[in-house]
Parts: sequence; C-alpha cells; structure tokens
Amino acid sequence: MTTASRTRETTDREDIAGRLLKSSAKASYDPLVEIDWDSPVDPDRYALKPERVSLYGTELWERLTEEQRKELSRQEVASIASIGIWFETILMQMLVRHAYDRDPTSNHIKYAYTEIADECRHSVMFAKMISKLDAPFYNLDTVAHLLGKMFKATSNGPLTFSGALFVEEILDQIQRETMVDENLEPLVRAVSQIHVVEEARHMRYAREELVRDWQHRGPLVKAYSRLMLGAVVYYSATRLINPKVYAKVGLDPREARRVARRNPHHIDTKTWAARKVVATMNEAGMIKGPGKLLWRAAGLLGR
Ligand SMILES: [Fe+2]
Ligand SMILES: [Fe+2]
Repeated sequence: MTTASRTRETTDREDIAGRLLKSSAKASYDPLVEIDWDSPVDPDRYALKPERVSLYGTELWERLTEEQRKELSRQEVASIASIGIWFETILMQMLVRHAYDRDPTSNHIKYAYTEIADECRHSVMFAKMISKLDAPFYNLDTVAHLLGKMFKATSNGPLTFSGALFVEEILDQIQRETMVDENLEPLVRAVSQIHVVEEARHMRYAREELVRDWQHRGPLVKAYSRLMLGAVVYYSATRLINPKVYAKVGLDPREARRVARRNPHHIDTKTWAARKVVATMNEAGMIKGPGKLLWRAAGLLGR
C-alpha cells in the first residue's frame, strides 16, 4: 500500500468518526430518564409480531391460547435482549482492547469510547426491560458462555467488527419492525427506538472499519477469521431463543426447541434478519469455506 493511500484511509476514518461523534452529541439517550419504567406491561399486547415468534404456524402454536402466545412473545423478547446484553458485554471489552492500542485523541478512538458508553446504557436498559417483562436473564449454556469469554479476549480487528456488525444488524432488523408497530407493547417499542437510533452509528463504524481492515489481511488471517466468525454467528443465532422460554407457557423445552428449529417461519425470520449483513459480508468475501457451513447450519442463508 502506498503512503498516499494510507493517508487517504486515515483521513477517511477520521472524517467518518468525526461525523459519528457529532451525531452522538445531537441524538443520544439516557434510557433511565427517557423511558416510562413505571407503566405496567400490557398483558393484552404482543411484545413481538406474532409471525416472528419462533413457534408461529406450528402445531404447538395452535395448541397455545392467545394469552400464552402473548406471554411467549414477551419471553422471546427477553431472551433476545439477554443475547443482546451478552454480546454488548463482549463488544465493550473488544472495543476497550481496540482503544488500548491506539491514540485516544483521534476521532476514531473517541468514537470507540462513545460507543462503549452507549452499550453500557443499552445493557442496563435491556436488563430493566427483562425484569419488567417478568422474565429471567436467559443466561447462555456453558459452551457458548466460554466461547464468548475466549472470543472477547482474543478477537483480532476483523473479528471484533464483523462480530459486532452481525449481532447489531440482527437485533436492528427485529427492533426496526417493532418500533413502528403500534399494536405492540409500548415499553418494547420505546426500548427498540432508542437502540435503533444509536446502533445505526455503531453499524456504520463497524462496517467501515471492517472493510478497511479486511483488505490488508493476508490469506491465513482471512481463513482463520472466516471460521471464527462462522462460530460466533452460529452460536449467537442458534441461541437467540433460549429453550427455557417455552417452559414459561407450559411447553416441553426440548420438544419446542426441536419444533422451532425446523419451523420454516422461524428459519425465514432469521434469514430475513440476517439478509443485510449477509450481503455486506458476502461482498467482502467473509462467507466462504468451512465457515459458510456454520452460517447455513444457523439458518441464516435460507432453507
Ligand atoms: Fe447496543
Ligand atoms: Fe452497538
């Protein structure tokens, strides 16, 4: 790479981060103040569009009463928020590591710190929403928990930003749909709205950094990163809905999980939520080789 193009890249990176910092100054939210945490959750509303609930359209779904279906939608939102907290915690550590090696007076790192602050507020917001929905924190199984622990301590640049982009895009698609649907639970809509606004900046930051960084990596790092990304994608997408949610509506968690995994509506929901990030990463050449099998196994590349 020539010095001129290296300089152009640095200027570009600084410009984008500068714009993101300005936008953060204009539109950032404190969910503790912005959200009405005292209003009770409405038991007559869905928290998620019924057709996005993992069992929608199955025989098990037909067996549930309307009340149980609504309760399941609340538990699934809590489960997705639990994955959100899990990954935001991973991301905060990865961004702290990213900042540690770089100049904090640059816009790029000032924005990294801004994003960490956003994620701190989001995790508190999600935790409060989970409690309001009368749900537990749906903690991950031991394997996913340990893999997350390893990943957040060792991720390289491409993995930090591709992992971030993946989880952020999936949540974003679901939340964009939720925030505009007036039939859904107002608390969940308010949480979605705040998250969507702030995450739009995070995704821009991750996408730009990923594309810049990826093109300088050699074949070995690329092959390793594709495989690791496949694992992150697999573990986060297959754990979005914790099987314990089904017990809350009187279903057998093992049976319901099996049914959900095969449910074409559920697979379509995951493919739909991942379509933008799949396009970005395909274009960058990040979904190839053995890692691609994991994307497919997670139900992200269609049926
Ligand atoms: Fe977030
Ligand atoms: Fe984020």
